[in-house]
Amino acid sequence: MSDRFKAETEEDLRRLRKMLRKVTSGDDETVRRRLAQKDEARILDLACGDCREAEVLTDFIADLKGERDESVVKLTGIDVRAREIADANLRFSGKKGLPGKPGRREFDFFTGDASKLDGHEELGEEFDLVFMRHQNYWNGAKTWEEIYDQALNKLDDEGRLIITSYFDKEHQLALEAIQRLGGELIKTEFNPETRELQTEGKSVDRHVAIFKRKK
Ligand SMILES: C[S@@+](CC[C@H](N)C(=O)[O-])C[C@H]1O[C@@H](n2cnc3c(N)ncnc32)[C@H](O)[C@@H]1O
Repeated sequence: MSDRFKAETEEDLRRLRKMLRKVTSGDDETVRRRLAQKDEARILDLACGDCREAEVLTDFIADLKGERDESVVKLTGIDVRAREIADANLRFSGKKGLPGKPGRREFDFFTGDASKLDGHEELGEEFDLVFMRHQNYWNGAKTWEEIYDQALNKLDDEGRLIITSYFDKEHQLALEAIQRLGGELIKTEFNPETRELQTEGKSVDRHVAIFKRKK
């Protein structure tokens, strides 16, 4: 990994942290209260690629939860690309905690089709956070609608779904599709610090939106 790529990735992740706080503000008390009652909080990262955001997500949930020594934040990531999953495993699988912080982290990644999670009973249900970074609705609307549907099904009653998008139009289409499938949009935010990429109109975590399940 070149120094420039590394520096850009770190900056992107710092901005993602900010955006997660921004998009949950106003809704975070409900989430905090519920997480504080549990010993284990669970995150599902769908189509996670090499899941470079794994630590950002576990930190984010741990902060909301108010970590105690015995608390666990567990992240499960899934992607169809075996190579990216191998990279994620290499980077995070051994990490059980963070220096100087209470609580444990657990990371688990596997290669699989996120549109067919029903075949993975070991995953269980009732995730506190389901996350999709740079969802790819444009690249196969049918598959992505199936993935959104699975994402909503995996959410706990009071869990939250967060997506990020590269493009304006793709974000809009995803918002519409997720609401059609039973998601209630809580908030969507444009990232003012988004890093522009080479393709016109494409930038990193350009939009971030949060949903819950419609009652
Ligand atoms: C735009 S990339 C985003 C990757 C990563 N989340 C990121 O932000 O860097 C879309 C990802 O969706 C994954 N993907 C596409 N269809 C999938 C499926 N049916 N099940 C799981 N992953 C899928 C691809 O392999 C790819 O990693």
